[in-house]
Amino acid sequence: MKKGKIYGVGLGPGDSELITVKAEKIIRKSEYFFFFKKKGNKGRAFEIVENIIRKDAIKVSLEYPVTTEVHFSSKEYKVLLNEFYGKCVKKIQIILNKNIDICILCEGDPLFYGSFIHLYEKLRNNFEIDIVPGITGMSGAWTATKIPMIWGKQILTVLMGTLDEETLRKHIKITDGLVIMKIGKNFKKICKILKDEGAFNNAYLISNATTSLEKVTKLNENVHSSVPYFSIILINKFMEKM
Ligand SMILES: C[S@@+](CC[C@H](N)C(=O)[O-])C[C@H]1O[C@@H](n2cnc3c(N)ncnc32)[C@H](O)[C@@H]1O
Repeated sequence: MKKGKIYGVGLGPGDSELITVKAEKIIRKSEYFFFFKKKGNKGRAFEIVENIIRKDAIKVSLEYPVTTEVHFSSKEYKVLLNEFYGKCVKKIQIILNKNIDICILCEGDPLFYGSFIHLYEKLRNNFEIDIVPGITGMSGAWTATKIPMIWGKQILTVLMGTLDEETLRKHIKITDGLVIMKIGKNFKKICKILKDEGAFNNAYLISNATTSLEKVTKLNENVHSSVPYFSIILINKFMEKM
């Protein structure tokens, strides 16, 4: 029996003009969309392409059961998210088994810390999947600073703010360029570590890069104790000279 095909489409960091020609062609043709979203939000990936999606297309939002209310390393979080991704896969399989192609909208790049990976892992053995790369959030963030990020033989490290203190410290000490993503409730912990390691005063905080809400500040100028979900901290050797 013929099955539908999956398009996992990267849509960049927020600016709707920062999607690829290939992504746009697929979105304009597609009739069936899936995308992740948090409660109360439209979903960043959906918002990026909302205006180019066909009016008669079917749009299915996959709403996370929890985000930061439950700690990500708790058993409860893992069980809830596992159940959630299982249900998402079932919904998608039903459509694919009717021989309908679907498009999974992904903020940034689908294979770079994206929720898409959870679906991909469960579906890739049974269905045909095409993936379109996208500009990552971190690329949007360092472009917003207008400061070069990395060059020559320098080493770039990407860390999740959700990592434990010891791991964060270990990597912060030895790298030339540093990207810290998923900051959220870990903001204070990250600031403390950066201060201890002497990296705080050179660091930049970029929120909602490439969108109308974009904000670029030096971390030591940021007076807020919390930051938006779409925020990234960047530190590098070029910033030391700024
Ligand atoms: C689940 S990851 C998704 C990463 C995405 N797939 C990518 O390619 O960048 C979400 C994290 O990416 C970062 N992020 C993504 N887009 C961003 C943007 N436009 N501005 C600031 N941070 C962003 C934030 O740190 C956020 O917590």
